[in-house]
Amino acid sequence: MARHLITSAIPYINGIKHLGNLVGSQLPADLFARYQRGRGNEVMFLCATDEHGTPAELAAAKAGKPVAEYCAEMHDVQAKIAEGFRLSFDHFGRSSSEQNKKLTQHFAGVLADNDLIREVSETQMYSHADGRFLPDRYIEGTCPNCGFDSARGDQCDNCTKQLDPVDLINPHSTISGSTDLEMRETKHLYLRQSQMKDQLDAWIDSKTDWPVLTTSIAKKWLHDGDGLQDRGITRDLDWGVPVKKGDEDWPGMEGKVFYVWFDAPIEYIAASQEWVDAGKGDDWERWWRTDKGADDVTYTQFMGKDNVPFHTLSFPCTILGSNEPWKLVDYIKSFNYLNYDGGQFSTSRGRGVFMDQALEILPADYWRWWLLSHAPESSDSEFTWENFQQSVNKDLADVLGNFVSRVTKFCRSKFGEEVPTGGPDLAVDADWVAQLEQNIRQYEEFMEAKEVRKAAGALRAIWVMGNEYLQEAAPWSTFKEDPELAASQVRLALNLIPLYAVLSEPFIPDAAATLLEAMKVDAEWPGAAADAVTRLPAGHAFAVPDNLFGKISDDQREEWQSKFAGTRD
Ligand code: 2FM
Ligand code: ZN
Repeated sequence: MARHLITSAIPYINGIKHLGNLVGSQLPADLFARYQRGRGNEVMFLCATDEHGTPAELAAAKAGKPVAEYCAEMHDVQAKIAEGFRLSFDHFGRSSSEQNKKLTQHFAGVLADNDLIREVSETQMYSHADGRFLPDRYIEGTCPNCGFDSARGDQCDNCTKQLDPVDLINPHSTISGSTDLEMRETKHLYLRQSQMKDQLDAWIDSKTDWPVLTTSIAKKWLHDGDGLQDRGITRDLDWGVPVKKGDEDWPGMEGKVFYVWFDAPIEYIAASQEWVDAGKGDDWERWWRTDKGADDVTYTQFMGKDNVPFHTLSFPCTILGSNEPWKLVDYIKSFNYLNYDGGQFSTSRGRGVFMDQALEILPADYWRWWLLSHAPESSDSEFTWENFQQSVNKDLADVLGNFVSRVTKFCRSKFGEEVPTGGPDLAVDADWVAQLEQNIRQYEEFMEAKEVRKAAGALRAIWVMGNEYLQEAAPWSTFKEDPELAASQVRLALNLIPLYAVLSEPFIPDAAATLLEAMKVDAEWPGAAADAVTRLPAGHAFAVPDNLFGKISDDQREEWQSKFAGTRD
């Protein structure tokens, strides 16, 4: 049995995420976790809320709540929505946990011992109007690299270049809009990433099977301009992990906290400690410590492309630089952006469909199917209501739903609610079975390779085979001449239902559960196709399931289209 450690980028606490966020990390991670569990492998699937930093502070202030209280509430909100989408985390942690605080301070301590942290006296933007030092992302201006006019102080969302606020042309505070900014002296810690450049470069070079999107972003950061730069890892804020060297105070760092991007990925590890402390398991080290059994773990991370630099360079720098036997990531699956109806999804502008809204209008499976089968892998992709309607109506309702309903209802009317007896063992030719075999194995290959869209295509092809079979065999006609043959045809078609359930479960878990329950069988990953389609013995009882998927009408589509055309308030 293989062991898979799987993490999804941890979503910021400040607000509910949109469908673009979902498809870029949590959802494909869930797909892979479910698939690996389906294959009988051992899985540890972790996610959390990313709770520190200014965005959390400001969102809490806006909500009129103490930041800790705000985060606790929003964590529960996000956890509930994640459940609604059937995200099957083994644990959904919190980066503000005590475990993460300790672990973050631990890493800072060992990195300092290994001479990978330096203290820097520097000047920082102080905003008179706001009465505070401005964190990077609360300064916006024009990107010196590409000219994008809303580049943030830490990173340009247009060209992904890592920035410092002082690099920005015409900087202003995004809190007050004020341009009355002054550079003031303050002391900060820097992670000496530049010291590890060659090691990181060789490591990235060795990852020849990683998506080009992942390696190209890493390479750009390693080689563009002056190459990999040291990274400030402290901030002048109240909310965050207090700067300490392990358990000890860090002279000169009083009142400062670690930068949110320093502690966030460490939460991947801390989440597994929270999992133990919550009584869900008893050993986190066998997932994370290569000296404690994690050397046979395969670790896969999922994230949007804006997160790639931190996961290919900064976090590995923390892990490798510690010189301790922590598990390093084996595969980084990254995604482009999903756009919304001719523009961008935007949290700040409230544009697009947000996770809570999506579940208010349709169950999770509908969204999961569309999002995953249109995952922005090789390029950005776009959500349109027309495409969503078409995909749901065709793939889910016409192909899968209709197949199940026709077979089960026909069987009930002619043979009763049990798998009928009679006719040949397999009412289909060998080529058809060979084709099914090939499609199943192809589906597995795509899933193993984390090729999400291709896997969806392979799965759809397997559904289509059932429909085409039914159309050609036409047991409703055969029945008149040769009821035995019809029985055998229906038996084969009924057998496809549990097969579809098991294969489809990673994409549409609720429908899969409905199908297994109706067919009264347990999930069992298919071996040879010929065995899979003869699994249900004659006489095996089943129940006709409720209609699996409703169609989206033109009226509904138009209603939702206009409902979501504006911005969320
Ligand atoms: O982009 C984001 O939503 C970040 N909160 C992701 C952090 S992932 C990691 F570092 F934990
Ligand atoms: Zn730029």
